[in-house]
Amino acid sequence: MKNIAVIGSGTMGNGIAHVFAQNGFSVALIDVSAPALEKALATISKNLDRQVAKGSLSENDKNNTLKNIQTFTKIEDGVKNADLVVEAATENVEIKLGIFKQLDSICAPATILASNTSSISITKIGAVTKRADKVIGMHFMNPVPVMKLIEVIRGYSTSDEVTNKVMEMSKTLGKIPVEVNDYPGFVANKILIPMINEAIITLHEGVAGVYEIDTVMKLGMAHPMGPLQLADFIGLDVCLNILRVLQDGFGNPKYAPCPLLVNMVMAGHWGVKSGNGFYEYVAGSKDLVVAEQFRRKELV
Ligand SMILES: NC(=O)c1ccc[n+]([C@@H]2O[C@H](COP(=O)([O-])OP(=O)(O)OC[C@H]3O[C@@H](n4cnc5c(N)ncnc54)[C@H](O)[C@@H]3O)[C@@H](O)[C@H]2O)c1
Repeated sequence: MKNIAVIGSGTMGNGIAHVFAQNGFSVALIDVSAPALEKALATISKNLDRQVAKGSLSENDKNNTLKNIQTFTKIEDGVKNADLVVEAATENVEIKLGIFKQLDSICAPATILASNTSSISITKIGAVTKRADKVIGMHFMNPVPVMKLIEVIRGYSTSDEVTNKVMEMSKTLGKIPVEVNDYPGFVANKILIPMINEAIITLHEGVAGVYEIDTVMKLGMAHPMGPLQLADFIGLDVCLNILRVLQDGFGNPKYAPCPLLVNMVMAGHWGVKSGNGFYEYVAGSKDLVVAEQFRRKELV
């Protein structure tokens, strides 16, 4: 595989394009939004500069990486020669099904179609195409250039041959692929998001405060970040959506979202992106300040 098309140039798409291009693949980066493409190229360039400054990449490799990326605003223009398409568009089932139907009708029969979805069924996506054997999940982690893992998700009809090809190709990116089956949340979010929900339930029940819960998990379990801070980074709206997917998919009440999480999402307190969640985020400040609603008297 030499030619890769990446659909969606947001947080994940720009990182995925960066990693393929840096490893010598020719990348077509596609987004419906031209400003999003411009922003993605600027982000990739800035991230490559950081690698050059650290000494992990030469100036020449940086320039070659950028030369390997071409941008397109129309899917049909970008996927013509693709051996592999990695879709990283907005997490919306209708958008993704529409993209895969279109890809199936315009890509060469041998093209493998991958999705970076965090929560939508790969089997469902494969079923809208006539090549479900060649539809697979490639769940990269954020930030893509830094994180080693790729969860490779086999849909119900994904073939062994396609799975093996994607596993091997993931290794050439310097990543560590792990094969998992297609059930709600795959492995990463089936474990991570209920843990975050449990941390919110623990706060809601008054067992401990925000600072205390995160400190126990950081210092006691060696997690680099507490679960409440992590929830703020992921986005509380995204955490809630994934819990609903787990709850619907497994029909098990243990995945029911904490009512406090539901309230916070309804109130627009979505974490870092809205400026407040379990902590307050002030532009330019790196201080971790517990949000007013959760400040305990003795901490004020
Ligand atoms: N952000 C994360 O931490 C993370 C981690 C793992 C997986 N994911 C998954 O990656 C995917 C992308 O997430 P993101 O955070 O990068 O989103 P994002 O909102 O940053 O970017 C999505 C991009 O897709 C573009 N887009 C929307 N519809 C399109 C279409 N029809 N054709 C082409 N481009 C289109 C948008 O213009 C936007 O630039 C989602 O499926 C998400 O679940 C996200």
